[in-house]
Amino acid sequence: MYTQALNERIDGPRVVEDPEKLAAFQARIDAEEKIEPNDWMPEAYRRTLVRQISQHAHSEVVGMLPEGNWLTRAPTLKRKAALLAKIQDEGGHGLYLYAAAETLGVSREELYEQLLSGKAKYSSIFNYPTLTWADIGCIGWLVDGAAIMNQIPLCRTSYGPYARAMIRICKEESFHQRQGYEIMLALCRGTPEQKAMAQDALNRWWWPALMMFGPPDSESVHTEQSMRWKIKRFTNDELRQKFVDATVPQAHYLGLTIPDPELRYDEATGHWRYGPIDWDEFKRVIAGFGPCNRERLAARRKAHEEGRWVREAAIAHAEKRRMRERAQRLAAE
Ligand SMILES: [Fe+2]
Ligand SMILES: [Fe+2]
Repeated sequence: MYTQALNERIDGPRVVEDPEKLAAFQARIDAEEKIEPNDWMPEAYRRTLVRQISQHAHSEVVGMLPEGNWLTRAPTLKRKAALLAKIQDEGGHGLYLYAAAETLGVSREELYEQLLSGKAKYSSIFNYPTLTWADIGCIGWLVDGAAIMNQIPLCRTSYGPYARAMIRICKEESFHQRQGYEIMLALCRGTPEQKAMAQDALNRWWWPALMMFGPPDSESVHTEQSMRWKIKRFTNDELRQKFVDATVPQAHYLGLTIPDPELRYDEATGHWRYGPIDWDEFKRVIAGFGPCNRERLAARRKAHEEGRWVREAAIAHAEKRRMRERAQRLAAE
């Protein structure tokens, strides 16, 4: 979900790998061994992971913005505290993931530069606006819910640092999902106006949430290789179906209608079948023309600029400490 660009071509020169090394690498993957930072790995595996993990990290950080919009307007102190904790978690997720990407030989500065220049992608979902408080409910319920669907299998992904980061992240995502669903439940048990607000938010978030799983398998460029390397364990369409099957009964429990006239339960397979997804909208948003793409990047750039003095001060402090320790060492000798 936060890794939609997994379906794009990978930049960089083609590397011809040693077939013996490749075979040994694949054998380790097949035996469910974890690949660690100092192990040999094919260049394409490394690049795929850098792109996927960094895109995931960017999504966590950009994902803080639509929710931050509601921090000052949360309806109660309890809601404000929970939302604040959730947004802080997302910042933490970004940090673990940038750190995991750094073990593959890229610097955080480089990754940040790719985000701020618009070269790197982040999840399309965060380019939609949060118009009412019910949107915060929908984000937790649907967006974090979709994140969990995608991220639980990533706890077993073949690259060790990524898999370990995902274990902790998934525990927190589950709190986020419940937080969102509980907001929806309160609204749906509230006044007719509150329930209408919940339905309106579901109408706007449902289809973008389904798009979070990325393009259909028939158009997904890297799925097969990523599955062989066990970076990915399920295809986009499999995960999307799991999400729909889990979420439709939750909507019914809330007394809400999924905005899809073609939605129906298929007795034979036990799956909820959904209507066609507007992939043109998805492509437009991914290409930078969603409702909030400009606003999101502008906010990240501003934050990066305003944080410059902190980064410079931290580097100066580290340098000073290094000099002091060196002087102490020399004096002791
Ligand atoms: Fe997260
Ligand atoms: Fe989350």
